Amino acid sequence: MNPSAFHIVILAAGKGTRMRSDKPKVLHTLAGQPLLAHVLATAKALKPASLNVVVGFKAEQVKAQVNDASVNWIIQPEQNGTGDAVACALAQMDVAAHDRILVLLGDVPLIDTETLSGLLELNPQAAVSLLTSVVEQPEGYGRIVRDVDGQVQAIVEQKDADAQTRAIKEVNTGIMLLKAEALLRWLPQLTPKNAQGELYLTDVIAMARADGLTVAAHIADAHWRTQGINDLVALSECERHYQIAQARALQRAGVQVIDPNRFSVRGQLQVQTDVMIDVGCVFEGTVVLESGVQIEPYCVLRDCVVGAGGRVCAYSHLEGATLGAGVQVGPYARLRPGTVLEAQAKVGNFVEIKNARLGERAKANHLSYVGDATIGADSNLGAGTITCNYDGANKHHTQVGAGVFVGSAVQLVAPVQVGENATIGAGSTITRNVSADTLAVARTRQKEISGWQRPVKTSKAKV
Ligand code: UD1
Ligand code: MG
Repeated sequence: MNPSAFHIVILAAGKGTRMRSDKPKVLHTLAGQPLLAHVLATAKALKPASLNVVVGFKAEQVKAQVNDASVNWIIQPEQNGTGDAVACALAQMDVAAHDRILVLLGDVPLIDTETLSGLLELNPQAAVSLLTSVVEQPEGYGRIVRDVDGQVQAIVEQKDADAQTRAIKEVNTGIMLLKAEALLRWLPQLTPKNAQGELYLTDVIAMARADGLTVAAHIADAHWRTQGINDLVALSECERHYQIAQARALQRAGVQVIDPNRFSVRGQLQVQTDVMIDVGCVFEGTVVLESGVQIEPYCVLRDCVVGAGGRVCAYSHLEGATLGAGVQVGPYARLRPGTVLEAQAKVGNFVEIKNARLGERAKANHLSYVGDATIGADSNLGAGTITCNYDGANKHHTQVGAGVFVGSAVQLVAPVQVGENATIGAGSTITRNVSADTLAVARTRQKEISGWQRPVKTSKAKV
């Protein structure tokens, strides 16, 4: 067997009491993904010999939601501590004595592959390699106690620490690499004689030293990558660290992110050159912004492509939309799935579009609903144009040819077709097809009643 074989065990069985939530902690989301999904993605990238996740609290929910076939799920029946969780895992793993076990925590989501690779290479002979971090506010973490020679001697949990130990600013990230043979020897020796009455994995450090073995330690470069999430305060802090890192990477790649503090990517954002993203925008799923695109403040884009030179004006909500070059949308536009706007098309304020295609340079500038429709090139839908696509049971299509002018406040009752270059008078309710090059008007004729007297107020009856 490969002497450097290592297995990964991710601890994710806890309820997360401090989250004050019914949801298992590892299913809380960061950048739109469950915490556990972040750890799993990083773990997989390291290509371990086996990938094991310990679950317990609402285990079925966690397994179903993360739904990853490459994981060996391990049940920890009672959450008796991190030491017990690792013991449960080892009992169900096929491990050789000289293998190494990399323990990751499901509530430390932002750990990265570089840091973990560094830990794997730190000292292959060490019985334990620890990842530590030095922080200004160590509250909540286990403290790293070093001896006079600077060697790690023990980890003391916050609740078991005296004032002097609590003052230590080097903390346990919870991430450690252990030799299987030693770990298998130590785990049965753990006792719950501590403030929390749990079996602490961290107690194996003192055992390693008692056995005269080496405990190697590496201090992480960036604390935020090792931050543990125990409550919603820490979750929001980690989220912002992550988003700022995304924003910085985009800025370095030439994207003008106006304010990294008001910027959120919850998926994949692919950008070309000279893109500007104003404050408060959220990107979900896969979003592509081609060169020169401008996204004004407070827009939400989910699974969209915005073509070169496009502009999404403030407060617009786009989902499943494909925008060609030079398209302008909003402010206050809503594009729903299946929207295709061809080059130079324009969609203005308070317009909703769903499953519809607007041809090149077509416009719907004000207060419209366009659903299940094809609108030809250069056509103009006047203010308040509504496609009546739903008859209460089925959806129907509206086809508008090129060069059509639809006046204001027109209802197009689908299924219906309007031929090329037709004109539709304002206020019409179009229920039949309109031929090309004609004017269609479908409204009652205006009439005048001369000498019309307005009603007058009747005096209130006395009681
Ligand atoms: C733990 C460490 C602490 C470290 C910190 C880093 C121990 C005893 N303490 O404290 O030294 O500074 O992480 O963030 O290891 N879990 C189980 N089964 C259990 C208990 C916990 O699977 O019985 C899982 C949890 O779901 C969680 C992880 O282990 O994902 C850590 O547990 P948590 O209760 O958050 O430990 P901390 O108090 O943060
Ligand atoms: Mg924790």
